[in-house]
Parts: sequence; structure tokens; C-alpha cells
Amino acid sequence: MRLLTIGLLELVAGLGLTRAALFADPANLPSDREYEYIIVGAGPGGSVVASRLSEDPDINVLLIEAGPNDEGVLGIEVPYLGYTLQPDTAYDWNYTTTPQTGLDGRVIVYSRGRVLGGSSSINLMVWTRSSRDDFDRYASVSGDDGWSWNAVEPYFRKIEHLVPPVDHHNTSGQVDFDIHGHIGPVNITVANVPFPIDPHVYGTTQDLSDEFPYNEDMNSGDPIGIGWTQGTYGNGMRSSATSSYVRPVLTRPNLDVLVNTTVTEVITTGEDVEGHVPVFAGVQVAQSSTSTSFALRATKEIILSAGAINTPQILMLSGIGPSLHLASVGVETLVDNPTVGQHLADHPRVSNQFGVATGEDDLYDAIARNSTLFDEVLAEWEAGKQGVMANGGSNHIGWLRIPEDDPVWLTEEDPSAGPTSPHYEFLFRPGFTSTVTGTPVPSTGYFITISAVVVSPSSSGSVTLSSGSPFDFPTIDPAFLSTSFDAYAMRTAIRSVGRFVSASTWDGFITGQAASFASVDLDSDEAVDAWARSQASTIWHPTGTARMGGCIDNDSVVDPDLRVKGTKGLRVIDASVLPFIPAAHPQAVVYAFAERAADLIKSGRQFC
Ligand SMILES: Cc1cc2nc3c(=O)[nH]c(=O)nc-3n(C[C@H](O)[C@H](O)[C@H](O)COP(=O)(O)OP(=O)(O)OC[C@H]3O[C@@H](n4cnc5c(N)ncnc54)[C@H](O)[C@@H]3O)c2cc1C
Ligand SMILES: *[C@@H]1O[C@H](CO)[C@@H](O)[C@H](O)[C@H]1NC(C)=O
Ligand SMILES: *[C@@H]1O[C@H](CO)[C@@H](O)[C@H](O)[C@H]1NC(C)=O
Ligand SMILES: *[C@@H]1O[C@H](CO)[C@@H](O)[C@H](O)[C@H]1NC(C)=O
Ligand SMILES: *[C@@H]1O[C@H](CO)[C@@H](O)[C@H](O)[C@H]1NC(C)=O
Ligand SMILES: *[C@@H]1O[C@H](CO)[C@@H](O)[C@H](O)[C@H]1NC(C)=O
Ligand SMILES: *[C@@H]1O[C@H](CO)[C@@H](O)[C@H](O)[C@H]1NC(C)=O
Repeated sequence: MRLLTIGLLELVAGLGLTRAALFADPANLPSDREYEYIIVGAGPGGSVVASRLSEDPDINVLLIEAGPNDEGVLGIEVPYLGYTLQPDTAYDWNYTTTPQTGLDGRVIVYSRGRVLGGSSSINLMVWTRSSRDDFDRYASVSGDDGWSWNAVEPYFRKIEHLVPPVDHHNTSGQVDFDIHGHIGPVNITVANVPFPIDPHVYGTTQDLSDEFPYNEDMNSGDPIGIGWTQGTYGNGMRSSATSSYVRPVLTRPNLDVLVNTTVTEVITTGEDVEGHVPVFAGVQVAQSSTSTSFALRATKEIILSAGAINTPQILMLSGIGPSLHLASVGVETLVDNPTVGQHLADHPRVSNQFGVATGEDDLYDAIARNSTLFDEVLAEWEAGKQGVMANGGSNHIGWLRIPEDDPVWLTEEDPSAGPTSPHYEFLFRPGFTSTVTGTPVPSTGYFITISAVVVSPSSSGSVTLSSGSPFDFPTIDPAFLSTSFDAYAMRTAIRSVGRFVSASTWDGFITGQAASFASVDLDSDEAVDAWARSQASTIWHPTGTARMGGCIDNDSVVDPDLRVKGTKGLRVIDASVLPFIPAAHPQAVVYAFAERAADLIKSGRQFC
């Protein structure tokens, strides 16, 4: 009997190459297969969990993704081309926000990845682990020390594979080799190609070191300062959640992936006898609003990893959410939880443009304006994964705090998690960018852009249903700059950009504020605030819409095991669960949460 079992397994494994583990139609799934776990959404949350759970050959796992396969898409593979993947492409959900009161009533384009890899396939690849205080706050609000920095840090090492840059320059002083992982699935690297602005950014950390200290590695738990960007790419290729975690294990006979298929709700099999809570044991799926709908079953759990917009949408469509709101769109309430869809937090960003004296210092606009040059650098990438296209968009990032003696603290509480968590961020880019979607690169002039981002916002928005139909877009309100603190922090950040370029190293390099930013008087509160309201947009970091809380905390959606409160058989593992937005680009935090959550599932832990 044992021999026979092994024989069969070998047979299936032997057929691995021909076996269709990647399905594009629910009708084609093997009808005789029983899945222990169904995972909804193939971003960092879902991909990590699918990969880790299917390490056990006795566990059958189905990963369902609304979008198409990502394999072989040039824009996804080439690091430089990341910016072409949104908005309004075949890989984007094409969302927009409600009119934003804090932004002069403007509607903001709100891209999310809709493809294998989720937003990690279309993002700008910045890799930041966030701060010690951010994780320690996750531990304290959940009551689970396992979410502290010290407990989660080993997971970052497990995820990472720090690879040398393609130009093989000496990275000593640019990244701390010893604090990183070296055999994990996700390739990370520091900048691959020098930018003309790099020496001036570094020079400022020497000229104005009190305000802008140099930080050798912002991923140590203490990100404060200015340092080199690390990105999720290596050897000139993007590392997404699927290219790193799923594609390498698609040969596992117990892992199936279903693309082009939308989960429309999670379904119950009735109530649990003891707790009288609904048991979720399956999902309803369809390929479009007009196509056939299928019910798919799981014997152990349904895991929602559809991201911070779609996870609360699916929960609410399934009757888990604020009962009054659900009733207003004709959905029957199974679990009344007013917190589902609330606490949406995101980072507002404003791009500030400066003129530079010579064309060679404006690398990106030269490529944008000259198709011959574009073709040349793309050919360089195609020939050997070298050159500008093998690099991410920003070689340096800064993380800064509003000083302790700032008058704002007389009237405002500090929304940041503690002294290692920044209030605002700088992003440096050699070329023109605007946060107002659709603004073209000016046809003449040379530019650099320094974006200012509020990374510890106190604004809190929401995701709600616009109707009971799963194919209608949800209503998204990130409530950007809706608190006096956020408006103040953005004003402080933009002024700080002005001080940064006042360092003597920029003399002769920068010609001054440029484009629409040219006329903004940085000494005037009104002028800076008006600039912020007219320009601010998202840096695409929504979190918090199914937040984790302690066992008896009633303003939360999931418990410290990430199980949905008031249910059985249902978990959320994605950016929705973060109870506070990390003061960082969040993908690393989501990967780490997913790695630990997979361990919690495997161990069967029942924290509450
Ligand atoms: C343009 C852009 C740039 C970004 N830049 C950075 C960056 O530089 N650094 C960084 O750290 N972070 C960045 N981010 C954010 C980062 O990518 C996300 O925080 C991260 O991917 C979140 O992971 P997730 O698993 O929660 O959700 P996602 O990655 O969004 O994945 C969710 C997946 O679920 C699928 N899905 C949704 N609904 C359904 C459904 N009903 N049925 C089936 N499947 C469904 C989606 O199609 C998607 O594939 C960026 C994001 C964007 C959009
Ligand atoms: C999935 O849908 C896309 C269009 O969104 C289509 O181009 C692609 O062929 C489909 N994939 C498969 C495998 O059918
Ligand atoms: C987003 O817009 C693009 C371009 O119009 C389109 O191809 C794609 O199907 C849209 N995506 C969704 C989810 O509607
Ligand atoms: C890289 O630079 C550091 C510091 O300048 C130096 O100590 C080290 O030897 C260099 N490494 C290589 C491989 O050249
Ligand atoms: C990471 O880089 C290694 C080579 O160092 C390569 O074999 C692997 O495919 C890369 N992984 C991803 C996810 O791109
Ligand atoms: C465009 O780029 C090509 C290739 O580098 C270069 O030869 C040419 O001079 C550039 N054209 C302009 C107008 O700068
Ligand atoms: C949680 O409970 C407290 C005290 O019982 C109550 O005041 C509060 O409104 C509740 N919050 C939610 C979101 O239900």
C-alpha cells in the first residue's frame, strides 16, 4: 500500500512538466481534487502562503487570481519599465477614489495590481522593512509578541536574497551585508546604475548632517536618515511574489493556480455547533459578470489575500461587515463587524521639481524624449540585463522625523509608532515626475524630482460597497490630508526638501524650483499648503481595512492569528490586516506577515 502510494506520487511528479498546474478556467480544474486550502489573490500575501502551505505534499492548495498570468510580460520583467504598468493597463484594477476634500475635491487615480504577483508585479520595487517601533506597536496592539521587530526580523532574512548589482560596483557602505538574507526567494539589490544626482544626495548628508544624516542601511530597524534604496530585483529582473514564491514551485503536484477568475464571495456550510459562528468552507467564482458561477470547496480554510481594497470588498459581499451598510446595498449580514473596510490608511505624496543645469544630469527625460536612446538602453537590457533599464527608479530615499521641539507637538499627538518611525520621506529621481496623473514631461528643460511623502499619517478613510455586485468597483476614500497633522506634516516635508537642496553641493547643479513648483513660495504656509492640495496623490500603499487587534478588542477584524473574528475557517493574510500603516513602503511588511502567518497555520496555533 505504501509502495503504491509512493509510486503514484512519483508518477504525478514525473508528469509535472505536462500537468497543467496553471488553469485559466474554473471549469478545467480537476474534478476529483479536494483542496485543504483555497487562497484568494496572488500578491505577496497569497503567494507566500500558497508556497509555504504546499511545502507539505499531503496538503492540496488552490491559489485563485482575478488577473492574468504575468510570465513573459516585458514591462513586468524590466525594472525600469515598472512605471508603464499603471494606470489603466491590462494589469490594473483601474480604481479611482472619491473626491478628496483635503485635495481640493480632486479624484485620485488609485491603481492596484491585477495579475499574478498582484501589486508586486506592477510596483516600483522599493524594499523597506519598516521600523522597530512599527512592529513593536503591532505586538502591543495585538497582545502577541510574535509580531514584534525582534520576532519578525528573522522572517526578513528568510525572504531575502541580497544579490550584487549588475554593474558589480563595490557596495561597501551602501548596504549592510550582515543584516540581510542570502538564500531566500526574493532577490533584492542596491542601485545597479549610478545617477548623476547620487554624489549630491550623499554630499548633502555630509554638508547638513544634523538634519539629514547618512544611514548605511535603512533596513536595520532604524531607518532614520538618507541612504541607498534597496529594490526587489536582481540580475536585472524584477522579483515579484509569483516569480519568487510561486513559479519556482509550480511543479508541485499539490499546488494549483487558477488565473483570470474572480472570487465573488466566500460561502458558508452553516454554523459551528459550539460557538454558533458561521463556518466558511468555500468560495464562489466567476470569470465575468455574465459568465457561469462555480462553487469551490476547501476542507480546512479559506484565506483572503486580495489586498487592502478587495479583501474588505469580498468580506462585505459575503455578509461580514457593518450591518447597516450591508443592508443599504442589499447584502444580508452574517457577522456584524463595523470595522470591516474602515481604517484605510495610505501615504500621500507630492512631487517637487527642480531644474538642473545640464542635459546629462537629467537621465530619465533624455530617455523619455528620445526614442533612439530608449531603444538603445532597452537593447542593452535585452543583450545582457545591463544598463539603466536594469535599475529601479530611485537610488536614494530619506526618512525623517519632525523634531521633538517643533511647536506642532503642543497641539497634536504624534501618530508615529516611536522614535525609529519617520514622519515623512524623500524620494530622489533624475528626471521630471508629477503626482498629477497625466502631466506630460515638458518638451524642453532639464529636471530632477524630489518627492515628499507623509509616512505616519493620522488620516483614516474607508472602503465600502457601491452595490451588492462583485463586479462593481468599491467606493474608496483614503481621506488624504484630512487631518491638521497630515497637512502640517506635508508642509514640513516640502519645506525640508527646500532645505535639502540648499546644501552647497547643489550649487551650479540645480538651477532652482521648476515647472509648476517654480512659483511656490516656500516661506508662505498658504502657498505650500495650496501646492500640496493641488498636487498630492497616492504612493499606492493602502492598508488597514481588515485590521488585526487583540482577542477582546472590538475595533478589529482579525485576531493575532489573522483569523476573521466571529467566523470559523476564514483568515486574512495581506496588507488589510496591518492595524497601523507602516512608515515604509509596505511590501516587505506584507511578505513578513505572510511568512509568519504560514507558520501559524502550520502549527495550528489558537492564540485567543
Ligand atoms: C503602482 C504601485 C507601486 C508600488 N510601489 C511599491 C514599492 O515600491 N515598494 C513597496 O513596498 N510597495 C509598493 N507598492 C505596494 C505593494 O505592492 C503592496 O503593498 C503589496 O503588493 C500588497 O500585497 P497584498 O498581497 O496585500 O495585495 P496585492 O499585491 O494588491 O495583491 C492582491 C491580489 O489579489 C487579487 N484579487 C483581488 N480581488 C480578487 C478577487 N475577488 N478574486 C481573485 N483575486 C483577487 C488581485 O488581482 C491581486 O493580484 C506599490 C503598489 C502599486 C500599485
Ligand atoms: C486571461 O485573460 C487575458 C485577458 O485579460 C487573456 O489575454 C489571456 O489569454 C487569458 N489567459 C488564458 C490562459 O486564457
Ligand atoms: C483597465 O483598463 C485597461 C485599459 O483600458 C483595460 O484593458 C483593463 O481591462 C481594465 N481593467 C479592469 C479590471 O477593468
Ligand atoms: C570595497 O570597499 C571597501 C571600503 O572602501 C574596501 O574595504 C573593500 O576591500 C572593497 N572590496 C572590494 C572587493 O574591493
Ligand atoms: C534571483 O537570482 C537568481 C540568481 O542569483 C536567479 O537564479 C533567480 O531566478 C532569481 N529569482 C527571481 C525571483 O528572479
Ligand atoms: C538621441 O539618442 C541618440 C542615441 O544615443 C543620439 O545619438 C542622438 O543624438 C539623440 N538625439 C537627440 C536629439 O538628443
Ligand atoms: C467597542 O466597545 C466599546 C465599549 O464597550 C464601545 O464604546 C465602542 O463603541 C465599541 N466599538 C465598536 C467599533 O464596536
